[in-house]
Amino acid sequence: MILTANGGPENFKPGELPVPSIGPNQLLVRVLAGSVNPIDIKLRKTGNFGYGPGSVLGFDVAGKVEKVGAGVTDFHPADDVYYSPDFGLPGGNAEFNVVNADIVAHKPPSLSWLEAGAVPLAGMTAYGALFERANLRLGQTVLIINSTGGVGSIATQLAHRAGAYVIAVCSGPNMALARSFGADRVIDRNQEDVIAIVKEEHPHGVDIVLDCAGFDWVARCMDLVRPMGQIVTIVNPSGELALGYRKNITLHYSFLRRDRRVLESLSNLIERNLIKPVINKVFRMEEIADAHRLLEQGGGFGKIALSVWT
Ligand SMILES: NC(=O)c1ccc[n+]([C@@H]2O[C@H](COP(=O)([O-])OP(=O)(O)OC[C@H]3O[C@@H](n4cnc5c(N)ncnc54)[C@H](OP(=O)(O)O)[C@@H]3O)[C@@H](O)[C@H]2O)c1
Repeated sequence: MILTANGGPENFKPGELPVPSIGPNQLLVRVLAGSVNPIDIKLRKTGNFGYGPGSVLGFDVAGKVEKVGAGVTDFHPADDVYYSPDFGLPGGNAEFNVVNADIVAHKPPSLSWLEAGAVPLAGMTAYGALFERANLRLGQTVLIINSTGGVGSIATQLAHRAGAYVIAVCSGPNMALARSFGADRVIDRNQEDVIAIVKEEHPHGVDIVLDCAGFDWVARCMDLVRPMGQIVTIVNPSGELALGYRKNITLHYSFLRRDRRVLESLSNLIERNLIKPVINKVFRMEEIADAHRLLEQGGGFGKIALSVWT
């Protein structure tokens, strides 16, 4: 699906492009599934990273290796793989995609194509934020804001499996889902006073806040973190952050880092049934405008998946 102009979702049009050629250490992948992420919407609107008219978006791929370039030893034609296409390159909303082999992993066999296509971007973001930035340790207390969105759904399960006491913040209809991820405490951000509740239940402060929502959550949560504690945000924070100095809080800005080893760790957890992707709704690739509209409208949970083969 080609973006004919930056702006609204009506600007996607089906189109024919030549099958891309591959270079050394690259794979040509036949795309079978993917998903929509908030970054698709931001890039569709702004054209950042070079995604202007004529470009192809899509930052999650599950598919089959069609060809391997010189120097590739870990993959062979017909292998099932999954990955997040790099920003700035043609994305996965297409029948074929070229990718550097070092950011690709074998697809977890137990997942359907649609489930696998929902994992890479959100999964690597969640893993990176919790384990590479905050260095989450057994027994720590983690407060997760937006615990049932694309990233939060995986992060909540990961934090639970890592032995943390997990406080999940979401809206009422998603509370049961957050509990199913293993959250120890779930707070309704619309009906309850998140800050007052966490303060009362954790008077010495939580170890880690993971902000998957943005807005002024980082500023508001400064008060909830213990001295020397940490906040990781995956969205640009706004509001007054000065309290962080007085409490010696570490604030991490965490951005997706594509890493085959992280995808392999996620595959390992998936195959052991310890985490699972959550799909809210499936669209065919031709219906991508509707998929964007649904994500933009908000109020959902988990991921919006895209199927390419029907
Ligand atoms: N840094 C990175 O590398 C990186 C990677 C991936 C995503 N992101 C960013 O992270 C954010 C989340 O991504 P995602 O894919 O998880 O998003 P998502 O699935 O679209 O999250 C949507 C959910 O956010 C919750 N929400 C909406 N407004 C909120 C508010 N004011 N306060 C708290 N929660 C609110 C809602 O759930 P409830 O109603 O249940 O609360 C909503 O369903 C996006 O801004 C995205 O661009 C950054």
